[in-house]
Amino acid sequence: MNKFKKIDFGEEFHWGVSAAAFQTEGACYKDGKGQSIWDEFTTRKGKILNGETALTACDFYHRYQEDIDIVKQLNIPNFRFSISWTRILPEGTGEVNQAGIDYYNKVIDYCLQQGVEPWLTLYHWDLPYALELKGGWTNREVVNWFGEFVNICADSFGDRVKYWMVMNEPSVFTGAGYFLGIHAPGRTGLKNFIPAIHHAVLAMATGGRILKQKLLDAEIGTTFSCSHIEPHTQRHKDIAAAKRADALINRLFIEPILGLGYPDNVPALKKIKNYFQAGDEEAIKFDFDFIGLQNYTREIVQYSFFTPYIGARLVKAKDRNVPLTDMGWEVHPPSIYYIIKKYSAYSNIKKILITENGAAFPDKIEQNEVDDPKRLAYIHDMLEQVLKAKNEGCNVQGYFVWTLTDNFEWAEGYHPRFGLVHVDFDTLKRTIKNSGHWYRELLGEQ
Ligand code: BGC
Repeated sequence: MNKFKKIDFGEEFHWGVSAAAFQTEGACYKDGKGQSIWDEFTTRKGKILNGETALTACDFYHRYQEDIDIVKQLNIPNFRFSISWTRILPEGTGEVNQAGIDYYNKVIDYCLQQGVEPWLTLYHWDLPYALELKGGWTNREVVNWFGEFVNICADSFGDRVKYWMVMNEPSVFTGAGYFLGIHAPGRTGLKNFIPAIHHAVLAMATGGRILKQKLLDAEIGTTFSCSHIEPHTQRHKDIAAAKRADALINRLFIEPILGLGYPDNVPALKKIKNYFQAGDEEAIKFDFDFIGLQNYTREIVQYSFFTPYIGARLVKAKDRNVPLTDMGWEVHPPSIYYIIKKYSAYSNIKKILITENGAAFPDKIEQNEVDDPKRLAYIHDMLEQVLKAKNEGCNVQGYFVWTLTDNFEWAEGYHPRFGLVHVDFDTLKRTIKNSGHWYRELLGEQ
């Protein structure tokens, strides 16, 4: 029994579902598409669980109509997906691949025909590999390369697309990709991480400005990954460690954009100043129409002498005797409430949307059905917390489930299943899970 109704969230609330190009499309080299850092990374030994690749993924490239039909069938009015940079610019810059533009025009037009509003993310982690060979996010030129791509997307799709998100989770693609090396392009260390951070912030603000200037009626946002953080104990050292983790996980990208500068409580971040050029203080700011928050869990943080640069470690959920998802993340619905409250406290955030939230649990398909009560309860309980924050006055205006179909979960391959729709990766058959039917009923309420 639901503890809320759709209407409790208000008439204007944006209900949706999110996905990303690399995780779903497949057809990695089709119709002139160039290689991205993820195409390359997935060929390296030992990087992806079970050596899986995204060469076919969900085959969304060929099955987009079927999947958009499902979005419609589930009564979901908004579909967020990303544009693959290398379909449009195979080398990242220079020659445009018309077939890539034609493809996204077909997807956008099909959404609109079906009465589904397309929401575009411009960068969901798939940097052109040709640009990575020139330094990728560590090369300041990336700001211009990205601007070129944003301009083309605005010119090609801006007549029909109203909602735009410049980036998906810069803290993850810089942290996992340029510091820890567990995501593409697999670089490590501060010498890569620090310039990547600053260039990503510059590119995010630049992308926002280009869209704003070209698309007068568009709503322009960007999305951040965020986790509610608590100290392991009330000891001074744990509290300070939790504050440093919070700076890296939750504040690092939003605060420069809002004009507050980079957080100053993490000594390693001081090096960012070395990458500043004249005018950057202004250039890193942009007044987004909305901020997309993507929350999955909370983190418990402990002081750690042995963790370089940050002096803090996450106490793993599996060691805390709490309910877990298949990603090993704690199921903790109040985390989304605290996150909304936290970001609402920034006076210059105009509007918040939850642009991703969802959970991976093992699914079994039996007689054409997938009974997934844990995912259903997870989404229900998270929504209850979103509503609580909204009722307390937070300007939260949307909720998008991650994700439509089970898909390629980056370094984890196909094992974690986040979809409202089950995909059999041998036959590519789609089966709506019970959580999907539940979402359909919720959204179908009049
Ligand atoms: C990303 C998605 C990812 C999801 C679950 C987010 O960090 O935007 O691409 O699949 O979380 O890990």
